[in-house]
Formats: sequence, structure tokens, C-alpha cells
Amino acid sequence: MNDEPNAWELRYQESRTGWQREDVSPALLAWLADGTLKPCRILVPGAGRSHEPLHLAQARFQVTTLDIAPSAVAHQRAGLAALGGTALEGDVLSFDASQPFDVIYEQTCLCALPPDRRAAYAAQMRRWLRPGGVLAALFMQTGRDGGPPFHCALPDMRALLPETAWRWPDRTWPEVPHGDGLFEIPLALIRI
Ligand SMILES: C[S@@+](CC[C@H](N)C(=O)[O-])C[C@H]1O[C@@H](n2cnc3c(N)ncnc32)[C@H](O)[C@@H]1O
Repeated sequence: MNDEPNAWELRYQESRTGWQREDVSPALLAWLADGTLKPCRILVPGAGRSHEPLHLAQARFQVTTLDIAPSAVAHQRAGLAALGGTALEGDVLSFDASQPFDVIYEQTCLCALPPDRRAAYAAQMRRWLRPGGVLAALFMQTGRDGGPPFHCALPDMRALLPETAWRWPDRTWPEVPHGDGLFEIPLALIRI
């Protein structure tokens, strides 16, 4: 596996999409239920064919998705069109938001990127969000070397998203199982 753009498209074409959930993540449902996330302008980078963008649009969020795989973009576009959402094709490392977002929903895009691109991606996320905006992130825990998905150890995430730039929450949310012994740690950070 590598991170060449067509490698991701190929995985969709060949249905090698083991990361895909059957339904909306319980973390997103929890954030909607407890008011962490309220209707606003939201970006879902590396959205793939996930269910969350449509769910958010149905919950009256103004949704923009971004992905490098054309067929995943087409899938999101078909779902979002009637609800006023936007599905963009592009690279998260070069995407330039014309207007800042209130929230980023980060679900398994960070862990899909090679670790040496993380700093660039973190800088991008900070650029895309308005001050006070929320980074609703699911940090993938694989406990093993290599990837994708690449392990997102919390100490590494704290170094990547330092407290000088992000306010970390003083509470936790339930971990989300991801099959094969993998799980995600949901955390909602505030962009300073
Ligand atoms: C592991 S999948 C997760 C998809 C989706 N978030 C989900 O939960 O089902 C990673 C996604 O990120 C996309 N991706 C990988 N590298 C990317 C990049 N540099 N720019 C934009 N999208 C990228 C892939 O095409 C793929 O859809």
C-alpha cells in the first residue's frame, strides 16, 4: 500500500475498503447528542464513501467533503447534491479553503497519510479552521508499525497539535472499535 493518489482510487475500484463503516460513527452521534457539534460549516477531509457527510447534511450542517479518489468524490456528490453540500476532489496537502470552516470532522484521513506528511496536514487543518473552530478527530489506534492505517499515538498527537495552537478537551468520549483490534479515540480540540 502507498499513498499515491491512484492507489486510493484503485482500492475503491477493487473494493479493498476495510476501513469503511457500515453506518455513522458512534463518536459523531455522541458529539451531535451532547452539543459538541451543532449545525455549521463543516469540512470532512478524506471523506471517502463514508456515511457521516450525508448524516451531517441531513442534520442541517453545511457540508464540504474533500478526497483525492474521484469515485469517492462522485459518491459523496451524489448524496450531498440535494442537500446543498459540496464534494471536492483534491489533495488535503494543497487544498486552499476560500472561506474558513467552523468544524473539521477528521475520520481516518490523518491515519491514511504517511507520518512524514502529518505536520503539513496539521498545518492545513489549522489554516482551514476559524479561531475557536472545532477539530473533531478520531485518532486511530493500531498499536503496530506501518500502515495505512498508521498508528496515531496520543503523545504523538499532542506533539503534532500542540497546546499553543489547540485547546485539548478536559473530558473524553467512548473509544470507537474499528475491527481487527483497531480502535479510535475521539477528541474534540478547539483551534486557538
Ligand atoms: C482510510 S480512508 C477513510 C475514508 C473515510 N474517512 C471513512 O471513514 O470511510 C482514507 C481516505 O483519504 C483519502 N485520501 C488519502 N490521501 C489523501 C490526500 N492526500 N488528499 C485527499 N484525500 C486523501 C482516500 O482517498 C480515502 O478516501
